[in-house]
Amino acid sequence: MRRVLVTGGAGFIGSNFVRMVLAEHVDCFIVNLDKLTYAGNLENLAEFLNHPNHKFVKGDICDGILVEKIIDEYKIDAIINFAAESHVDRSITEPKVFIETNITGTLTLLEAARDKKVARFVQISTDEVYGALALGQDAKFTEQTPPSPNSPYSASKAAADHLVKAFGHTWAVKYNITRSSNNYGPYQFPEKLMPLMINNALNDKELPVYGDGLYVRDWLYVYDHCTAVWKVLTEAPPGEVYNIGGCNEKTNLEVIDVILNRLGKPKSLIKHVTDRPGHDRRYAIDAGKIIKDLDWRPSVRFEEGINKTIDWYLQNHKWLSNVVSGDYQKYYEQMYKNR
Ligand code: NAD
Ligand code: TYD
Repeated sequence: MRRVLVTGGAGFIGSNFVRMVLAEHVDCFIVNLDKLTYAGNLENLAEFLNHPNHKFVKGDICDGILVEKIIDEYKIDAIINFAAESHVDRSITEPKVFIETNITGTLTLLEAARDKKVARFVQISTDEVYGALALGQDAKFTEQTPPSPNSPYSASKAAADHLVKAFGHTWAVKYNITRSSNNYGPYQFPEKLMPLMINNALNDKELPVYGDGLYVRDWLYVYDHCTAVWKVLTEAPPGEVYNIGGCNEKTNLEVIDVILNRLGKPKSLIKHVTDRPGHDRRYAIDAGKIIKDLDWRPSVRFEEGINKTIDWYLQNHKWLSNVVSGDYQKYYEQMYKNR
């Protein structure tokens, strides 16, 4: 039986990962350590809270004593670090907590992994550490692309990647790093492009498009990210870095167009607003290495994935209305006040 500490498992990708593992891999026990920030939500895991192979612990990855206690108590043999502050816009208004969780938190987990001789450490990173590509080029990010982060979010993730490599080099911590493109799918907090636009369109609210809306992201269905992380955990040699991408480059306006069509809402809801400072123009992933070395490939085409995603939010109206109640309105008004 594998015994894995998953951090951030109540967030968007982490909860999808926990769900996938519990459904598909009976030989894996998960301890799920999550601080339950605004982005963490136990409703994301409601049907798994009493699962015999899942133990939820509320806590902070910066709490080294707690992390070591979990490793000892549950005989953890791998750590997968999904926990992070993950939203670029928030990192522009409040960068400090990104440094704390994304850098100090990763350092704390690495120290525990080193001291307790945890057999594998998988760091969930992002393509945003590579910086930005220009529009209309063929170039994509490979694992050899030098890090060149542009936002406080991506800078904190790049710093964490460097720490992971340094612990591998200095103390032989056995690690892997995954760098995925933009994920979409069920349980994503509606501060990110897709769920925010779906939620606003459902409520006939304006859709705030930053700048010209011609920014390009490479969209990956979240389930496919989860299968890639599982492959890395179970098959990758230590010390390897893998890009994970969906091969689905779309402009933000193209994404919004699909959402409006599926929901039968008018284009007049689109409102171009002041651009994000330092907005990265294009991300695109070359996922050739993980495809070739680990025989992974995305299983969900963009058209299928986005329709499934929109339908999920329609069918899970209660989840959405719970998530956007309370502090969300305050966040939303603040974020879009001056745009
Ligand atoms: P998310 O914001 O939805 O979830 C983050 C989770 O981490 C939440 O459950 C939150 O409560 C928890 N958390 C935050 N600070 C914590 C702390 N100090 N201690 C313990 N738990 C804490 O994020 P996500 O979109 O699911 O992203 C997960 C990971 O994947 C992140 O590391 C992110 O950088 C990376 N990533 C995300 C994307 C994407 O498109 N969402 C793409 C590439 C990589
Ligand atoms: P986001 O989901 O925040 O992911 P990231 O910036 O990490 O790629 O944003 C995706 C794209 O959508 C990005 O180009 C910014 C843009 N965007 C908007 O135009 N309006 C919005 O309200 C949001 C949240 C994002």
